[in-house]
Amino acid sequence: MEVKLITLKIEEYGAGEDLPKSDRALLNKAKEALEGSYAPYSEFHVGAAALLANGEIVMGGNQENAAYPSGMCAERVALFHAQSSFPGVPVVSVALTAQCDRFVTTHPVTPCGACRQVMAEVEKKQEQLIRIVMQGEEGITQAVNGIDQLLPLLFHEEKLKKSKS
Ligand code: THU
Repeated sequence: MEVKLITLKIEEYGAGEDLPKSDRALLNKAKEALEGSYAPYSEFHVGAAALLANGEIVMGGNQENAAYPSGMCAERVALFHAQSSFPGVPVVSVALTAQCDRFVTTHPVTPCGACRQVMAEVEKKQEQLIRIVMQGEEGITQAVNGIDQLLPLLFHEEKLKKSKS
C-alpha cells in the first residue's frame, strides 16, 4: 500500500492585500449578482459572475424552490446561461461571493460538488482552465487556476469511453 499526497495550489489574499484588478472587477459583478439571488429558505445569497473570452460577463444568483432540490446554485445559473447564450466562447474566470441574512460571511464561499463537476465539464470542453475567485463579505479572498485545484481525482468523460477490445 502506498499513500499519495495531493498538493492543491490556492492563492490567498488578505483583506487589505491587493487582488489582481481583473479579479476585483469580476468580484464586484458577483456582488451585483446577489441582487438576482432568490433564497427565501436558506437566506444565504450567492452571487456568481463569469468572464467570457469575448469580454461578456454573465451573472447568476442562486434560485431556491419550496421543493428544495429544484433550486439551483449561483455558479450553475451563470455557467449554464453563459454556455447557452454564448456557445463555443470559453469561460476565462468565475467570481463568487455570498451574503447571509442571519450572519456575516467571514470566509470565501466555495463551490459545491455539483458546481465543481459542471466547471470541470466546461473546462474540458473548452480545453482551457478556468480561474475561480472566491470571497465572503469579510476576510480573505481565495483564487485557483483550474478546477483540478478544487476537485482532484474528478470524473472525466474519458472514463465513459473505454472499450473491452
Ligand atoms: N449555493 C450556491 O449558490 N453556491 C454554492 O457554491 C453553495 C451553495 C446556494 C444553494 C442554496 O440556495 C444556498 O446557497 C444554501 O445552500
